[in-house]
Amino acid sequence: MADEKTTHFGYQQVAWQDKASRVAGVFRSVAPKYDLMNDLMSMGIHRAWKRLTLELSGVRPGHKVLDLAGGTGDLAIKFSRMVGDQGAVVLADINDAMLSVGRDRLFDAGCAHNTEVVQVNAECLPFADNTFNTITIAFGLRNVTDKDKALASMLRVLKPGGRLLVLEFSKPVHRPLEKLYDLYSFAVLPRIGKLVAGDAESYQYLAESIRMHPDQPTLKGMMEQAGFMRCDYFNMTGGIVALHRGFKA
Ligand SMILES: C[S@@+](CC[C@H](N)C(=O)[O-])C[C@H]1O[C@@H](n2cnc3c(N)ncnc32)[C@H](O)[C@@H]1O
Repeated sequence: MADEKTTHFGYQQVAWQDKASRVAGVFRSVAPKYDLMNDLMSMGIHRAWKRLTLELSGVRPGHKVLDLAGGTGDLAIKFSRMVGDQGAVVLADINDAMLSVGRDRLFDAGCAHNTEVVQVNAECLPFADNTFNTITIAFGLRNVTDKDKALASMLRVLKPGGRLLVLEFSKPVHRPLEKLYDLYSFAVLPRIGKLVAGDAESYQYLAESIRMHPDQPTLKGMMEQAGFMRCDYFNMTGGIVALHRGFKA
């Protein structure tokens, strides 16, 4: 046990191989109320964060898009419309409960004709090299155990010239905002979680996992290290969220 490899799960240290099942427990628990909670917690602002992601996606009719850790599929629905009949969208996630909500939403939105739903681990994507024009991973990378391995896997399945967009909670750039945000995250979020989803713990994990996630320059460096080119990022809502972008040469 003494030299067992560990990683963080929120503020807890857990065995490296146990993190994925702990994360799975969180998303299995929140899946039924995930979309409602997203709107409540962010006061709807997550829609604006996702709008910028769509705008910078470069997606055009005929493209192939991977929405990784795509959960309940809100980006995948938008991409399905953008790629049209000649294009294809893969909604991929490790969690069956999240995917099951996502598959129903895609179906209800009339997107079944050009979308596929696949259960995958971001660390070892089961797609051929050079498959996708664009990959998005929105609020997903934070939960992945081996982020470097996942970034390498995403680079492999991108087409040359294709782009990766990582939308993720990040580090607020103003001190007063950071204080207010901490108060909201640790005092308010778990309470909303308990009230609406009957689950305070998962929302405590959310707040903690955000603090453990690499900040903007660190994630940019990780993307460069993985082999992405022309990496940059855009802070939104004062850096509470950042959209990172990188290209495959
Ligand atoms: C916060 S949700 C984000 C869902 C959606 N992208 C959104 O923006 O609303 C995070 C998702 O990451 C997924 N996830 C966590 N670890 C993963 C992994 N190793 N591979 C693929 N998906 C993963 C979870 O199952 C969950 O659905």
